[in-house]
Amino acid sequence: MKILVKENYDELSLEAANIVAAVIKNNPKAVLGLATGSSPIGLYKELIKKYESSEISFKDVKTINLDEYIGLSGDHDQSYRYFMNTNLFDHIDIDKDNTYIPNGVAEDLELESRNYDKIVESLGGQDIQILGVGENGHIGFNEPDSKLLTPTHVADLLESTIEANSRFFDSADDVPKQAISMGLGSIFKSKKIILVASGQNKANAIKSLQNDYITPQIPVTLLKLHPDVTIIVDKEAASLL
Ligand code: F6R
Repeated sequence: MKILVKENYDELSLEAANIVAAVIKNNPKAVLGLATGSSPIGLYKELIKKYESSEISFKDVKTINLDEYIGLSGDHDQSYRYFMNTNLFDHIDIDKDNTYIPNGVAEDLELESRNYDKIVESLGGQDIQILGVGENGHIGFNEPDSKLLTPTHVADLLESTIEANSRFFDSADDVPKQAISMGLGSIFKSKKIILVASGQNKANAIKSLQNDYITPQIPVTLLKLHPDVTIIVDKEAASLL
């Protein structure tokens, strides 16, 4: 695992975008595993710039997202489908039929989860997976204490996660209590993983990556088991290293 400390959010976003762009240049049909939340927004902005300057094209790229809130359809402005459209897909030349996000309003969520893993399998796994990290160390919606190396599943959000995500909603009551999330098993299908984190509130989670300790109480520590992980952080997120 490599940890790169950058001066600020803009620099970490550019560094991450350069890594993703290199994957696409190497394989124009690359499969990108994508995350939502505030952490990758700068990275997506940099990818849009690279598309606009013709450095990269997403014409043959496929994407597969980590998660979606249960109960929100894709046109809800807090759904992750809506987030991806507005922060990336609407601004690049990707074919939206090649962008996969779990269906949070599927009638049979178990079947939706199984089918989602089949999509990951049929794409041959992600060439690169982009991750953020929760203050409590969650990745995707794999909260502390969850089972190790699960496939895609219905995940219960912890109170602390609902609280952290309430900043995007009118109130904490409006935050969905469950999500469909790739498990660590699906995330580990990726050949390469990058994780972006900025701000003091991520410093504890990042510090947990410094030694060899692995625990399901801090899910991000499991990334130590993957052979190709790069963590890209700003000075605040790195402040406890
Ligand atoms: C998003 C996701 C979450 C976020 C994490 C950090 O698809 O799966 O694990 O990466 O909650 O969120 P931000 O970046 O908003 O701090």
